[in-house]
Amino acid sequence: MKSYRIALIPGDGIGPDVVAAAWQVAEAAAGKENVALAAIRYPWSCDYYLETGAMMPPDGIETLRGHDAILLGAVGWPATVPDSVSLHGLLLPIRKAFVQYANVRPHRLLPGVEGPLKAERFDILCIRENTEGEYSGAGGRVHQGGANEVAVETAIFTRAGVERILRFGFEQARQRTGRLASVTKSNAQKHSMVFWDEITRQLSAEYPDVEVTSYHIDAMAARMVMAPESLDVVVASNLFGDILTDLGAAIQGGLGFAASANIDPGRTAPSMFEPVHGSAPDIMGKGIANPLATIWSAAMMLEHLGEGAASARIMRAMEATTRSGIGTRFGRDATGAITEAVIEAIERE
Ligand code: NAD
Ligand code: IPM
Ligand code: MN
Repeated sequence: MKSYRIALIPGDGIGPDVVAAAWQVAEAAAGKENVALAAIRYPWSCDYYLETGAMMPPDGIETLRGHDAILLGAVGWPATVPDSVSLHGLLLPIRKAFVQYANVRPHRLLPGVEGPLKAERFDILCIRENTEGEYSGAGGRVHQGGANEVAVETAIFTRAGVERILRFGFEQARQRTGRLASVTKSNAQKHSMVFWDEITRQLSAEYPDVEVTSYHIDAMAARMVMAPESLDVVVASNLFGDILTDLGAAIQGGLGFAASANIDPGRTAPSMFEPVHGSAPDIMGKGIANPLATIWSAAMMLEHLGEGAASARIMRAMEATTRSGIGTRFGRDATGAITEAVIEAIERE
């Protein structure tokens, strides 16, 4: 029997609810395939910070390294801990330390879910650069507090970093419909984004079977709303990818549906799976958080681990659930009811 050790980091807000849901579903699907999943739970969160003064212990990264994968809920509770502290203390260091440079975020409508658009048939795979760019953390403040105060946030793009994410995008496009959209803002950002466009052109010579088109981020935002069916794989920098994937979540019916995988394609360290959404303070404790984004992320985790059959069981069960109307409209079905429906669909097969 194959077995995997999974680090669970439920985190803040609705994180614990959606991770508990996804874990139950993952266990049910794995059980059907004779795969054993062991959960090792880490309470790292804003509450943990308030107790200990850190979002995770000093050896947190080394502790996580010993796992096959990480399933995370959400990090951030701005009422008690500034986001700049919590996110830079837990989520972002994991992505960087484990070189999870590809943040893969699928956007499509589950059956029975009505998105806000007329378009029903779109299937977009956003590939977000996940370790550098606008999230480098470089910069600072000068003349602090004075009338001449300046805040500098330096975006860092390395050739190696841009090349590897674009290659990942080209490879994904090759496995899908052969179309790649590369997103920049090279009309305004004349260093980094011109560099990105240049590398895109250079690499395209190596992938003659992939049709690559460069878009500006503003035009891409409009295209995702007006003509999402015209897109297949979309590759973007860290910040642009962050924004586009909340937009992608919106067109697929809401943030409760959008899944993500933070992948180290080199497989030197565990990859991390989490919903696109955050801790949702506004609905925390109401029992109405949609768990499907995290359940879908758990399916991506099993796929990444090589357990494609268990992953496909989750996807089929989610689709059966939404096809029957459960979980399709925000606020109508409780987190627990949606989760039970998915587990029942797994058991039924
Ligand atoms: P958010 O994603 O938490 O919430 C945005 C909106 O989406 C809210 O109205 C919320 O109720 C709704 N929503 C989110 N998840 C939902 C779900 N599963 N079902 C139904 N509705 C859902 O974004 P925010 O409010 O900007 O951020 C809240 C906190 O979460 C902040 O601390 C932020 O930094 C953090 N955050 C963390 C992550 C992460 O851990 N990956 C991602 C985004 C935001
Ligand atoms: C996401 C989140 C994070 C990001 C925040 C919380 C730092 O919005 O995973 O999309 O921007 O990467
Ligand atoms: Mn985001």
